[in-house]
Amino acid sequence: MAGSGSVHLRERDSVLRVEHLTVEFPVGTSGAKVHAVSDVSFDIMKGETLGVVGESGCGKSTTGKAIMRVPPPTKGSVLLEGQDLEGLSANELREVRGRLQMIFQDPISSLNPRRTIRDIVAEPLTVQWLEGFPRSPVSTAWRRLTSAMTAGARHPIAGRLARVGLLIFFIGFLLFVASTALADPDDFGRRDGGGGASLGEWIMTAGGVVLLPLIVVGAVGAVLWAVLVLLMPLASLPRTLKIRSQQKAFDAETETRVAAALEEVGIPADLSMPKMPHEFSGGQAQRISIARALILEPEVIICDEPVSALDVSVQAQVLNLLEDLKAKYGISLMFIAHDLAVVKNISDRVVVMYLGKTCEVAAPDALYAAPRHPYTQVLMSAIPVPDPLIDPRSARVISGELPSPITPPSGCRFRTRCPRATELCTRAEPVMTLAAGSPGESDAHYVACHHPLTEEDWS
Ligand SMILES: Nc1ncnc2c1ncn2[C@@H]1O[C@H](COP(=O)(O)OP(=O)(O)OP(=O)(O)O)[C@@H](O)[C@H]1O
Ligand code: SF4
Ligand SMILES: [Mg+2]
Repeated sequence: MAGSGSVHLRERDSVLRVEHLTVEFPVGTSGAKVHAVSDVSFDIMKGETLGVVGESGCGKSTTGKAIMRVPPPTKGSVLLEGQDLEGLSANELREVRGRLQMIFQDPISSLNPRRTIRDIVAEPLTVQWLEGFPRSPVSTAWRRLTSAMTAGARHPIAGRLARVGLLIFFIGFLLFVASTALADPDDFGRRDGGGGASLGEWIMTAGGVVLLPLIVVGAVGAVLWAVLVLLMPLASLPRTLKIRSQQKAFDAETETRVAAALEEVGIPADLSMPKMPHEFSGGQAQRISIARALILEPEVIICDEPVSALDVSVQAQVLNLLEDLKAKYGISLMFIAHDLAVVKNISDRVVVMYLGKTCEVAAPDALYAAPRHPYTQVLMSAIPVPDPLIDPRSARVISGELPSPITPPSGCRFRTRCPRATELCTRAEPVMTLAAGSPGESDAHYVACHHPLTEEDWS
């Protein structure tokens, strides 16, 4: 299933087009990487819901976050209505984020516990409004310097230099102390401790030389930072006065828009706006998250397991709400879940993922009636059937643990758990190919497997 390729991308204009998305996280300073998402491609049309399923750890959330650029992908492109998000300035990205919103899995923890519901739902509006007032050059310089210093401090080379320098310095210090302690008492007080201490001093100096570039850069940065901080209140004064003069009108408009967004998701605005997140149930909190996502009238909402923390009846209410909003506003949804049953009901198209790769792309009915990928078949058989005559133990169970994304298997990433695996699967990565239907049409069914399932396997 470890499939690559983008043959399943449609030619028509898509609202969101993700091509060859790759996200890798470094593992400490060892040089190893977590291959969280590897060469994933998909697209979403206007008003369409794309379901993304796969077991825990397969890279669903990382894919959603990489689209939002938190963090940006290691490789690949994300196009929102044809606009490539790579290379946008911070301001342009903020504008784009208004059109692209995300709802998270845990409704309560995704709402700031120290802010009222009014402030939480208004936050995207407030951020966008404030960004409309240009910052003073001093404050822009301060922000750039702060992020450059943070990036520099996190850079692996800076970390390595600091460790090596400190180690050398520490060894020199120990030698210096030891030789001083062993020195002839008559020599006490001499800087070389009576002989051997000069070696310690030399080594300490060498450590200092390794640390010197870091110390110089840090000191210069700190001085610049202090100067900018002192200048900032003065330089920001015109902007602050402008914001103050328009604050009242903005607050009044925000109040109306927050109330409308809350009412839209079935939360009584008057009662709820002054309350804090902990005063709401999980289902209500998720509705509030949806209101916050809706307030900037986005074109695409990435829903990262928005109902998995809710009980079944509340799940249905939230799913119906998302469906209604989608129909009313023509929003496109990327709906992430590990539960194929939930995805089936809400999606127009489904992407199945395994260990950072795409396995299969199809309309949900086709995927259910005729899965082509061995992994999809296992996922489907795990859906509970409400029939007392069916023994739940008869479900196909996937064997073995999910392999480590740090050292994923060669060829097909599913091969270590696949009953159909052959030598070819070890050697060559399968590429996404058309298995049924017509390319670009809603019946198109794509699979990345060397030995896909056939009719005999579904019976
Ligand atoms: N910031 C990070 N640093 C290192 N590894 C990470 C980071 N974020 C995610 N990962 C790893 O990337 C892989 C994919 O994680 P991700 O959260 O995307 O999975 P998921 O499919 O959303 O799982 P779940 O269904 O449990 O939410 C996992 O192996 C995870 O440990
Ligand atoms: S048959 Fe081979 S290519 Fe297909 S899923 Fe199994 S291991 Fe992967
Ligand atoms: Mg997740």
